[in-house]
Amino acid sequence: MIHDSKQRYGSVSKTFHWSMTALIAWQLLKFGDRIAEGEHWIGQTLVPWHVSIGTLLLGLIVLRLFWVIGQRRHRPRQHPATARLVKAGHGLLFAGMLLMPLSGVLIMLGGGYGLSAFGWEIVPEGEEIAWAAGLGSLHSPLAWMLSVLILGHVGIALFHHFGRRDDTLKRML
Ligand code: HEM
Ligand code: HEM
Repeated sequence: MIHDSKQRYGSVSKTFHWSMTALIAWQLLKFGDRIAEGEHWIGQTLVPWHVSIGTLLLGLIVLRLFWVIGQRRHRPRQHPATARLVKAGHGLLFAGMLLMPLSGVLIMLGGGYGLSAFGWEIVPEGEEIAWAAGLGSLHSPLAWMLSVLILGHVGIALFHHFGRRDDTLKRML
């Protein structure tokens, strides 16, 4: 089933959710640069893909937002007592998924580095742009905030599954 329903998420939403979860986890490995200045296996094999994977995530989040808006009338029902809180929480996760790659792109353009993804030059190197570099400096604080949100989100999902034993996690699996 491609579309979402009141009972569960459909295959498109699940594919977006789990593929982007994996790619975001990959992106968060960039925190590893803080250990021995990235001079370790993860820093040398997975982290160098940061800009390419981040640019891919920017494309994916735009497509996902269109999909979510299209599905909004027939998505799984939330418990009325917490529906607004869940909506706000998911909204913040979406904001994080959009602002992370946008601020990342601003670091690159602000520094005059240009932007290339998977060997394809999207914006050539150029002048430094002070306002873009300024906004780009939000990238790291946003990464910390998104990490906390994700921890909360995963914790709540596991609590539903193992604590309450309801079908919240199952409808996304
Ligand atoms: C969802 C997408 C992204 C996530 C989750 C993410 C996450 C991160 C994290 C965790 C850091 C390390 C921050 C720290 O140690 O304080 C970082 C740094 C960085 N990211 Fe991203 N990033 C994303 C997208 C991008 C994109 C699209 C670009 C560029 C086009 C980018 C460029 C950079 C750069 C240049 C740094 C180093 C910044 C510095 O050292 O000041 N990121 N990112
Ligand atoms: C192991 C990691 C994760 C687990 C176990 C998990 C679990 C879930 C579950 C069970 C739902 C359905 C909630 C409901 O119907 O009330 C959900 C939805 C959602 N999750 Fe996650 N999630 C994970 C990672 C992530 C990450 C990394 C993000 C983004 C940063 C994210 C963003 C969302 C969003 C925005 C929704 C709302 C539905 C949608 O439009 O896709 N999740 N997640």
